[in-house]
Amino acid sequence: MRAGRRVAVWGAGGAIGDAFVQHLAAAPDVVEVFAVSRAARPAPAGKIRTIAGDLTVEDDVAAAAATVADAGGNLDLVLIASGVLHDAAAGIAPEKSWRALDAAAMARVFAVNTIGPSLIAKHFLPLLARDRRVIFAALSARVGSISDNRAGGWYAYRASKAALNMMIKGLAIELARRNPAALCVGLHPGTVDSPLSAPFQRNVPAAGLFTPARAAAAMLGVLEGLPATASGRLFAWDGAEIAP
Ligand SMILES: NC(=O)c1ccc[n+]([C@@H]2O[C@H](COP(=O)([O-])OP(=O)(O)OC[C@H]3O[C@@H](n4cnc5c(N)ncnc54)[C@H](OP(=O)(O)O)[C@@H]3O)[C@@H](O)[C@H]2O)c1
Repeated sequence: MRAGRRVAVWGAGGAIGDAFVQHLAAAPDVVEVFAVSRAARPAPAGKIRTIAGDLTVEDDVAAAAATVADAGGNLDLVLIASGVLHDAAAGIAPEKSWRALDAAAMARVFAVNTIGPSLIAKHFLPLLARDRRVIFAALSARVGSISDNRAGGWYAYRASKAALNMMIKGLAIELARRNPAALCVGLHPGTVDSPLSAPFQRNVPAAGLFTPARAAAAMLGVLEGLPATASGRLFAWDGAEIAP
């Protein structure tokens, strides 16, 4: 692994996002971690540099990118760990039936899960180094796989992640022209104990519910081993590819 790696994590206030930040900050080969979160948090000492930003506001995304660029840019890794599945205050809950479809809730889910990561790509892909293996990875979800959808429901979340997967595919094609060694991939973290999954953990066996730290470590390990030919595709925490 190259020494002196510089990384950025979006959704750093989330369970998995925070685990990514902690894991990367503890890695000897990482020198700087830009941790972007909606809440402006005090910057801890050491390698972590916090940046306030909402991925649904393009000015915020552009300002975060400018902060990283001013600090030297030249990133090795960009991770997007943001996402929404339910938010009572915003009227968002995974739909059990088409009867529950709601335009405003759907628009919000797409804004956070699809459009926000696309804006991050627009402003952060140019910050990736061009002369070495670099990675842009967004947390997607197995339930965004169209071929894997056997249970139905969860319309907006599934569709927003399927659309994110299509964004990743297109971005990977364009990114390869700029740097053939670059990777742009989606990741499925497994079922992880977090506020996002909390209401849906009842039927998950204890052994199948990962801590955020375990999921983050597993996914970083997967990223380390992926060849450039993996770009544009979706991988689970165990390295297995998930079909679109
Ligand atoms: N947990 C699971 O079992 C599981 C399974 C499959 C996929 N995933 C995916 O993994 C990613 C991380 O999820 P997590 O489990 O770590 O969830 P989480 O703890 O709820 O974190 C999600 C983070 O997304 C960011 N976010 C930005 N805009 C948001 C908005 N409008 N509403 C809510 N959150 C917003 C927030 O980060 P800031 O506070 O830093 O702004 C929030 O903390 C998501 O993309 C999720 O879809 C999770």
